Amino acid sequence: MNKTIVALDFSTREQVLDFLKGFDEPIYVKIGMELTYGCGLDIVREVKEMGHHIFLDLKLHDIPNTVKGGMKNLAKLGVDIVNLHCAGGIEMMKAAMEGLNEGAQDGKRPLCIGVTILTSTSQEIMNNELGIPGTVLERVVQYAKNAKEAGLDGVVCSVHEAKAIHEACGNDFLTVTPGIRLADNSSDDQKRVATPAYAKEQGCDHIVVGRSITKSENPQQTYWDIEAMMR
Ligand code: C5P
Repeated sequence: MNKTIVALDFSTREQVLDFLKGFDEPIYVKIGMELTYGCGLDIVREVKEMGHHIFLDLKLHDIPNTVKGGMKNLAKLGVDIVNLHCAGGIEMMKAAMEGLNEGAQDGKRPLCIGVTILTSTSQEIMNNELGIPGTVLERVVQYAKNAKEAGLDGVVCSVHEAKAIHEACGNDFLTVTPGIRLADNSSDDQKRVATPAYAKEQGCDHIVVGRSITKSENPQQTYWDIEAMMR
């Protein structure tokens, strides 16, 4: 299974097909809200039929009953990973797992990972704007422990927290890390960034890479270069 998950942050089906036609073997892709709201869930089915692995990044966060129903329907799509916000709490996360188990296809449910603190949030924003005390690392590890207690398979975090999460929750607990930038890239809106090489050193299970690949001059080459750095 590839370690690099490319974020298909496009708005149209044409852009997606144009991007994917450069790959002659299955890769791991992330379909998020931009593409889903632009094309509907048909794009998920189409990319899956092409043989690619899919992380469906819709970040559910609602009352437990609503999240359970939503997850049940997402499980029916047969995607590989889905996610939610850990901030919804343990009861919501447990309900999500119930929904996924109920909707599982052929006895196989998608993996479920929880978003801890977004990689676009800095310590200052977390403390002063959101009013959440403590360090980012403390909150992220607390959210990861909650996710584990609720039966989730792992979390989304920044590279800088992956090691502490594996120490607290075990090495089998997945760490999926966005906020990846190559040495010569701009950080854009991301605050807690790191290179693929550092992600590997920190033991991240998967990295999520969007603009560093999709906006590069040769996206396919950049994808495989990054994948090689992670192995
Ligand atoms: O372009 P870039 O590499 O910054 O894209 C990162 C992707 O990962 C985006 O699709 C974003 O929605 C997603 N993501 C993130 N931080 C999180 C969770 C998801 O950047 N905590």
